[in-house]
Amino acid sequence: MTETIVKKNPGGLSGIVAGETAIATVGLEGSGLTYRGYRIEDLAQHACFEEVAYLLLYGTLPTRGELDGFRTRIVQHRGLPDALKKVLESLPAQAHPMDVLRTGCSALGCLEPEATFDDQHQIAERLLASFPSMLLYWLRYHRDGIRIDPATEDPSIAGHFLRLLHDRQPDSVHEHAMDVSLILYAEHEFNASTFTARIATSTLSDFYSAVTGAIGSLRGPLHGGANEAAMALIERFKDPDEAEHAVMEMLTRKEKIMGFGHRVYRVSDPRSEIIQIWARRLSEQAGDLRLYSVSHRIDEVMRREKNLFTNLDFYSASAYHFLGIPTSLFTPIFVCSRIAGWAAHIIEQRADNRLIRPSADYVGPEPRSWTPAADR
Ligand code: COA
Repeated sequence: MTETIVKKNPGGLSGIVAGETAIATVGLEGSGLTYRGYRIEDLAQHACFEEVAYLLLYGTLPTRGELDGFRTRIVQHRGLPDALKKVLESLPAQAHPMDVLRTGCSALGCLEPEATFDDQHQIAERLLASFPSMLLYWLRYHRDGIRIDPATEDPSIAGHFLRLLHDRQPDSVHEHAMDVSLILYAEHEFNASTFTARIATSTLSDFYSAVTGAIGSLRGPLHGGANEAAMALIERFKDPDEAEHAVMEMLTRKEKIMGFGHRVYRVSDPRSEIIQIWARRLSEQAGDLRLYSVSHRIDEVMRREKNLFTNLDFYSASAYHFLGIPTSLFTPIFVCSRIAGWAAHIIEQRADNRLIRPSADYVGPEPRSWTPAADR
């Protein structure tokens, strides 16, 4: 008689193919990432973030004229309605900036609702243009006590972000680093936040609801929040030896080290190799190698002890630090970039929609008889 071995479901939809996409491939051979067929290495080296966002939203790389038109529309969409500014002003100064963006997205959905699905590309461009505006309007109002005009003329989203944050023309190396980081964060197939957006979309809900839900999923430290958690770890240490000692203790206590490991990549995260080069370059430019050398030692320890590799979030943390970005804005930057990928997935889901509604293995009590309250 043959015995059937029933494997316990590992949970987390691990290894489950949950649908089709023509937007990205992740880790097909243990590593490797492509957006619409283009390797992430080529995009990070040759493209600007606006070209990548256009590629994700419209399916092809833009011609020179299409790129100019796209950039112009992004610049025009940066302003915020007064009612949204009032909402941002009324949020607490201590709010987490991810909560601010989640609220900002939802509020914009009330002020400029999606009338029909024909508006979807316009809403995608509006959110791409206005997320940095919302975030930095709120930050500067509460941190510096001023009402900035978020509608800058900077041609790039990276430049717009850095100018609103620092109130000056961004350093060109910093702007380039920011641009590359936005490219790396833009899209990643059926990750948790994108899947959230697709689930909401599959109910035929509106664009803003799908993105608001996605921001909520991205906030957690197992997903987008890992870059902030990685920074909190790295900045504790004065040198690599202290970092090694502490990380060894954390591993003994079976604690997770944020910025390591991945659900899909098995060999390496190709985005990490790119941002690591930038983290090193920025730390050398700043003449401060402490954070980079601490990061590098933690990387070595994790490979040696756990055979785990850095994901994008780990070296992004020190790179952002050298761009003068406060740690609490790290995950919101992810939103400013990933909106391109979320939007592409919302549009793709709508094009061939079926309600996403899986089933569960029931592990609860056997059927039982009702007992009145007095007899329990
Ligand atoms: N630090 C220490 N150990 C880790 C680890 C990490 N960052 N990531 C995975 N592991 C270990 C787990 O403890 C587990 O070990 P065990 O089998 O001895 O229990 C094993 O590797 C598998 O981990 P698991 O959490 O089950 O894998 P997953 O596929 O469910 O999770 C992540 C993937 C990304 C959630 C996970 O690697 C993680 O939590 N990383 C840290 C958060 C992070 O950087 N997130 C950003 C992802 S881009």
